Amino acid sequence: MTNIVRPMKPSPLQQVKIRPWTGPILRWAGSKRQLLPQLLKQVRGLEGHRYVEPFVGSGSLFFALKPERAVISDLNSELMRFYRTVRKHPRKVARIAHAYPVTIQKYYALRELSPDKLGKLERAARFLYLNRNCFNGIYRENRNGQFNVPMGKRTGSIPSEAFIYRASIALRGAQILDGDFGLTEKYCSSSTLFYFDPPYDYTGRRNRGEYGPKSFGIKDLERLANMLEKLDANNAKFVVSYINVDEIVPIKKRWNCLEIPVKRQIASFSKHRKTIKEVMIANF
Ligand SMILES: C[S@@+](CC[C@H](N)C(=O)[O-])C[C@H]1O[C@@H](n2cnc3c(N)ncnc32)[C@H](O)[C@@H]1O
Repeated sequence: MTNIVRPMKPSPLQQVKIRPWTGPILRWAGSKRQLLPQLLKQVRGLEGHRYVEPFVGSGSLFFALKPERAVISDLNSELMRFYRTVRKHPRKVARIAHAYPVTIQKYYALRELSPDKLGKLERAARFLYLNRNCFNGIYRENRNGQFNVPMGKRTGSIPSEAFIYRASIALRGAQILDGDFGLTEKYCSSSTLFYFDPPYDYTGRRNRGEYGPKSFGIKDLERLANMLEKLDANNAKFVVSYINVDEIVPIKKRWNCLEIPVKRQIASFSKHRKTIKEVMIANF
């Protein structure tokens, strides 16, 4: 009997011959994991640049590049606090999170706790556990600032201690800030690469508060457009991801733009996936 060995189909990342050094530790609504092949192709050759990511979320591109010099930032201060703790204590955070049983009781018991009352290791472990087990990797808080996402059905396991350790090494080269994207403009210089991946807002979109009440919206697109002009005037490089909607046309027309079909959840709390068109805009 002859054994037929079929060649394994290469993954999209293998197809572009790029192997990310590590991956994100978190699940995140709007993560750019699927777009990594196109993003990595776009930034190839700029690996030595300082890397700035003002809407970092789970940092799909950041962790794939593992830049030596970076600034990562996000409006979500609990997220950025998590990264600071993981950078310093990856193994301790991993061990605490792994010790929690994955049960409905434990999920809701941890969700009830006020993060301010926890030590920093427990706080980071709680963040990781809730993120890996919540619905669709959404981070949403109620009016009192309490995380209120229900437990998901298809949840992710906690990454291994070794994986979290590798992520902490990637974070060592990064300055970790929190706040509005505009804060990062001051890092603009000729050998800097910015990657902008704001929440996709457009007319008629139902806001479910997945990134908080102060989250980026249509009103901020002009501010983003002005920032891009300044970056370009200072010879910095940038890439922007957005959904292909009318609101992005002024930015799209001004720079180079590639349209990419992507399968995404139609809304954060939806189970259905639909192919939408996203754009990758760059000044190089
Ligand atoms: C689409 S997600 C980024 C996903 C990320 N690229 C990844 O691969 O996981 C958008 C992020 O922008 C953050 N955000 C929302 N409004 C912001 C603002 N005005 N300034 C900075 N970050 C903001 C959200 O907290 C969220 O983490």
